[in-house]
Amino acid sequence: MEPFYVTTPIYYVNSTPHIGHAYTTIAADILARNQRQRGAKAFFLTGVDEHAAKVARVAAEQGLSPQAYADQIAVVWRDLPERLNASNDFFIRTSDPEHKQFVQKFLQRLFDNGHIYQDVYSGLYCVGCEAFKTEADLVDGKCPEHDREPEWIEERNWFFRLASFEQELLQLYERDDFVLPGFRANEARSFIEGGLQDFSISRAGQTWGIPIPWDTDSVAYVWADALVNYVSALAYARPGQDLIPTFWPQVRHLLAKDILRFHCVYWPALLLGAGYEPPRQLFVHGYLLLDDRKISKSLGNVVDPLDLIDVYGVDPVRFWCARAVSFGQDGAASILGIHERYERELGNDLGNLLSRTTAMVARYRGGTLRASPSPDGSIANAIRPLASDVAASLDEFDLTGALERIWEVVRILNREVETTAPWQLAKDPLLADDLDRVLYDLVDGLRAVAVALAAYIPTTADAILAALRQPTGIEWANVAYGLTAETHAIEPATPLFPRLDAPVE
Ligand code: ME8
Ligand code: MG
Repeated sequence: MEPFYVTTPIYYVNSTPHIGHAYTTIAADILARNQRQRGAKAFFLTGVDEHAAKVARVAAEQGLSPQAYADQIAVVWRDLPERLNASNDFFIRTSDPEHKQFVQKFLQRLFDNGHIYQDVYSGLYCVGCEAFKTEADLVDGKCPEHDREPEWIEERNWFFRLASFEQELLQLYERDDFVLPGFRANEARSFIEGGLQDFSISRAGQTWGIPIPWDTDSVAYVWADALVNYVSALAYARPGQDLIPTFWPQVRHLLAKDILRFHCVYWPALLLGAGYEPPRQLFVHGYLLLDDRKISKSLGNVVDPLDLIDVYGVDPVRFWCARAVSFGQDGAASILGIHERYERELGNDLGNLLSRTTAMVARYRGGTLRASPSPDGSIANAIRPLASDVAASLDEFDLTGALERIWEVVRILNREVETTAPWQLAKDPLLADDLDRVLYDLVDGLRAVAVALAAYIPTTADAILAALRQPTGIEWANVAYGLTAETHAIEPATPLFPRLDAPVE
């Protein structure tokens, strides 16, 4: 398999994380873990974006230097992937000295390649977006994304010749999976076709940032610094080892639609200008909404992912992220929705299936499962296409579809319990072989499902395999029927998802 490199945006540290950030991090983690299961060499990067004007402002409000403020809050952000059980291979901070040096080299390459010139810029700037705005971007004079009026800025800046990359960018969009979903690619393409404006890559009125190498009175514009993280991290994540040749350009950038232009237009052009390959793919997902508004720090309607983890545990939060909203679309987030899925899908569909299966093996067979596969049976048939179906969906970033495909098998296994009624079979010694076959199918099916689910809910997958006394290997080849060998000492499993009180809204 090809090497696989997946990234999240690096998040602004002007505030603490909310469920929207957790969402992208979980999605990236599911893809990375699945690729590793399938034998790919994978690298998963996340981190924080520190050199924003809004970060300097929050620091000033707290009476701290921007660096001291960033050092404090970076601890909280670093904790986010850990608490989410994300398997990121590195956590980048844009104040890392290695990143700063890399950005300076990157900008110098743009300059040396003739893509930079100086000009005076005057215009409206939204600190929320960290971007200049045109009148057409505004609604009632305000940035619709952040619901606030932009500020007037006039300064001498260094500009990147974005307009000169129009044809090269349009060529990239001829590859129909460059930006996904397709409607996002169309959005980016029509933005390019609408005529590109050169953009400023420096800021004169600010000191918090990476100095422009040929004009050290200016600092890099935060986006010209932040985007470069996707390459810079590969250069120094493993001391003494340059990972760029291994993983670039096999990168998949995940992001939400708020930063589509920066990623789908500016970033490929910057890369081309500096002499790098453009990214392999970008996936632009939707917003999690609360009361129909984007969950956002600036809007102040945040849901704390760590609170949710404290109540439900990490796997239910991961599960919910992949399942509640079709990945790619906008969708409503609600605590009641999480609770409902916790009880109905995780508690009943999956948790009870494990409890019943293990309890029946314990009670009817003293904990011993005989190897009695039915290769032509309905469970075998349900599991046989699972591995390739799930992999194919995940290759298209369809996290929700792939999970639903696994859940179909969970439902089939539950139906199998009802239709075969093992408690009836157990009453009749003449039906002992039938009972063995049913129990085998249930255990083997749950085992295969656990391996398929391992990227989504890793701790639960381990717990299922342990309860079934199965090896812990989660290689993708194990998502197959009939790999369970005779097993002993299966005991009634403790509930995977204990009942919780309903939330108070
Ligand atoms: O834009 N629903 O950082 P940021 C879904 N530093 N995803 C959401 C979300 C929501 N309600 N809210 C946030 C920046 N996200 C820049 C990025 S990258 C070189 C620099 C996620 O802290 C989503 O991935 O504003 C979105 O694109 C990102 O957080 C924005 O994070
Ligand atoms: Mg933002």
